[in-house]
This record gives sequence, C-alpha cells and structure tokens, in this order.
Amino acid sequence: MKRIQIINGPNLNLLGRREPDVYGARSFEDYLTELRSLFPDVQIDYFQSNHEGDLIDCIHACGFEVDGIVLNAGAYTHTSLALHDALRAVKAPAVEVHISNVHAREEFRHHSFISPACRGVIAGFGLDSYRLAVEALL
Ligand code: DQA
Repeated sequence: MKRIQIINGPNLNLLGRREPDVYGARSFEDYLTELRSLFPDVQIDYFQSNHEGDLIDCIHACGFEVDGIVLNAGAYTHTSLALHDALRAVKAPAVEVHISNVHAREEFRHHSFISPACRGVIAGFGLDSYRLAVEALL
C-alpha cells in the first residue's frame, strides 16, 4: 500500500473558522475523510503543528518511510530555510500546497523557501489542492 504524509503548518488547525473568505468554511478533518475515501488504496497520514521544529521532526520521522509528502507549511513557507533543509535531507518527494493562490495575494507571500526542495507546487484550488498533490505524487 502506498503511503502519503500530509503535513499542515501554523494556523491551519483553524481551517473552517479562519478567514473563511480566503480559506473556505470547511475544517481539514472533515475534508480529510473525503480525501481518504477518494484514495481507498492509499494510506494517508495527517499531522498538523503550529511549531516549526515539530514540522521538521515529522519530515524526519516519515521522510524515509512514505512514498510522498504533501506539505502546506503555512506562513513558514515564506520564512523557513530549516524546512527547506529538512525536505532536502529526506528521501520522499514533496509537493508544496497552498489553499489560496499565494501569487495573487500580498507580495510577501510570493516567495517560497520550500519550493526549490519540492517536486512541484499546487496553489489556489482551495482544499482540492491537496487531492491534486496526492494525485501528482502517486
Ligand atoms: C497558505 C498561504 C500562506 O501564505 C499562509 O500564510 C497560510 C496558508 C495557503 O494554504 O493558502 O497560512 O499556505
């Protein structure tokens, strides 16, 4: 069975309640149930943290075991060289995901530290961005 690890970074625990005009009205847990049902032959594990070091620990822990990582690093996307290095350090390919189209938003969201360490980037398709990332990894 293929294994995909989804990792969500800071503030994404508030999906459904956080800026619903930008990120939608659905919780990630609710979406995850649907996502798993779309890929019954894939083990999809999920981890969320608001702490950079915990995200790095998760990448280290799964990065030699899983077939792919789907990472929405939230605001750490735009700041974290450490997440870039963590992705480079492990074997599993990663796809960077954003719910919103970061390139249509403030300029400080246009630069990503993690894109160069990822196979690809999917942004702007709402929660469906995660499904597209899983498809790409498979
Ligand atoms: C985000 C975009 C980031 O700029 C922002 O800091 C987030 C969410 C997205 O999914 O659209 O927290 O990664």
